[in-house]
Amino acid sequence: MMLHAALIGHPVIHSLSPAIHTYWMDRHGVEGAYGLIDTAGQGLPETIKDMVAQNYNGFNVTLPHKQAVMDFCDHVDDTARLMGAVNTVHIRDGKCYGSNTDAYGFVQSLLQADPEQHYLNGRIVVLGAGGAARAVVYGLREAGAKDIIVCNRTLDRAKGLSAHICPWEERSRILAGAALLVNTTSLGMQGQDKLDIDLAALPATALVCDIVYKPRETKLLQAAAAQGCRTVDGLGMLLQQAARAFSVWTGITPEITDELRDMLKARTL
Ligand code: ATR
Repeated sequence: MMLHAALIGHPVIHSLSPAIHTYWMDRHGVEGAYGLIDTAGQGLPETIKDMVAQNYNGFNVTLPHKQAVMDFCDHVDDTARLMGAVNTVHIRDGKCYGSNTDAYGFVQSLLQADPEQHYLNGRIVVLGAGGAARAVVYGLREAGAKDIIVCNRTLDRAKGLSAHICPWEERSRILAGAALLVNTTSLGMQGQDKLDIDLAALPATALVCDIVYKPRETKLLQAAAAQGCRTVDGLGMLLQQAARAFSVWTGITPEITDELRDMLKARTL
């Protein structure tokens, strides 16, 4: 079995995806390589054409191309179309099939902390309204969540999401009674501003997830754990969306082992 795949985006240099896919390739005896292709705006169609010509099996797509890549796919599946973004492309017989594994990856990542998905029956608060929030809200809706509130600095941006919306200033207050809190903003990420939020109103029964994974234990997750909440770090979603992509390309469902997690933890302190 061979796999030739890559991540296309800009920038891509700090991506953990090559380490993840290379680990699975070694483990499952798959030959080939998963590379990084740094492509800014105009270069996208040429890059894709080259990959098809070179018989790549597929590629992942990250910022800023997740929407633009749809124009260069021969087929886009329902999930990706409804989300308005493609993050995984499978190349078969010279044709590009676009899908999106982010929403699936997010929902899967919560299963370890709450296998029965109790949060689906409660109130869910999502911070942020960018591409990551779209995947999170889509995944939660598909899973059956009814009560989702999106809280974003730019209120207009939250309006396109299938959720109630709430001004950014209300973010601490609306945590009262919440079953799940998800941070999808870039706040709290290495080199970014801190996420300023007071968790006092959040019940200790709530699950708290931060999709930021650098650092892995964000201040939000530390504060949540300190008041007794279960937490899910951003490595979970990263690994689960990657696992789904790997299985699209190879037909193999790869295992998310402790060894793989430990390897990534060492790189996301
Ligand atoms: P992604 O596709 O990874 O979600 P994005 O589309 O740039 O990235 O979204 C970043 C999110 O972080 C947005 O919700 C953004 O809020 P705005 O829509 O108001 O820009 C949020 N964000 C970034 N910096 C922020 C800050 N200083 N305060 C509040 N929210 C912030």
